[in-house]
Amino acid sequence: MSLKQPLLSLTGVNTYIGQSHILQGVDLIVPAGHVTALLGRNGAGKTTTLRSIMGLWRPRSGQIVFDGARLDGLPTHEIAARGLGYVPEHRAIFRDLSVFENLQIAERKRGDLDRALPKLHTLFPDLKRFESRAGRHLSGGQQQMLAIARAMVADNRLLLIDEPSEGLAPIIVGAIVEALKQLKGQMTVLLVEQNFRMAAALSDFYCVLDDGHTVRAGEMAELTSDAALTARLLGAG
Ligand SMILES: Nc1ncnc2c1ncn2[C@@H]1O[C@H](COP(=O)(O)OP(=O)(O)OP(=O)(O)O)[C@@H](O)[C@H]1O
Ligand SMILES: [Mg+2]
Repeated sequence: MSLKQPLLSLTGVNTYIGQSHILQGVDLIVPAGHVTALLGRNGAGKTTTLRSIMGLWRPRSGQIVFDGARLDGLPTHEIAARGLGYVPEHRAIFRDLSVFENLQIAERKRGDLDRALPKLHTLFPDLKRFESRAGRHLSGGQQQMLAIARAMVADNRLLLIDEPSEGLAPIIVGAIVEALKQLKGQMTVLLVEQNFRMAAALSDFYCVLDDGHTVRAGEMAELTSDAALTARLLGAG
């Protein structure tokens, strides 16, 4: 599918949190079957964009279109039911429940765990090895894997993943990159990432936000081949 046929698009999205005008006209295109990185400094509005897509914040104006139909204004459960999976920041798993029970709870909302499990275990072998281990006793990387797997129990078409590398050691980040690489082509992903190397390793397209605006978007190769542009858009490091 081409850029002209995005799976998800945001046009002129304005979102307020209380009185604060946080998203000030976000434009974003997420082509089907690809990984798109949503980049930007701390506080740029990346998480607010994901929450606006999921209806957790209600945009005041602008359009959010998924697979040809408007999402903005719908309640979150209806948005999720259309095939959007959300992996929030800080890995919101149930720490007192086992890996398997966490996946069962995701199934209760929607999905077919028997059907999803073989694929999830191939992607994340630790989730099979530690199936009966409580969430609290998983490593940070395993918790992140479980959080992503939960969003994949339902047959989602788009995954929104917020900072999967946060707080993880580089070797663990590498394992998550490898798992997400296997997903490429099967699933469309919108990935928020501060770790530019991770974003660059996975993404085909990018969009940079600053101060609640879209400042630039394009093919990831444009950024990886132009360190000066990347530094200007994202700051040092
Ligand atoms: N619940 C909230 N109440 C008030 N202001 C908020 C709230 N959540 C976010 N903001 C503000 O909105 C702006 C954008 O925040 P957001 O969390 O979307 O940024 P971000 O790009 O995800 O940043 P980070 O990289 O630090 O996660 C920031 O100025 C933040 O302070
Ligand atoms: Mg954030």
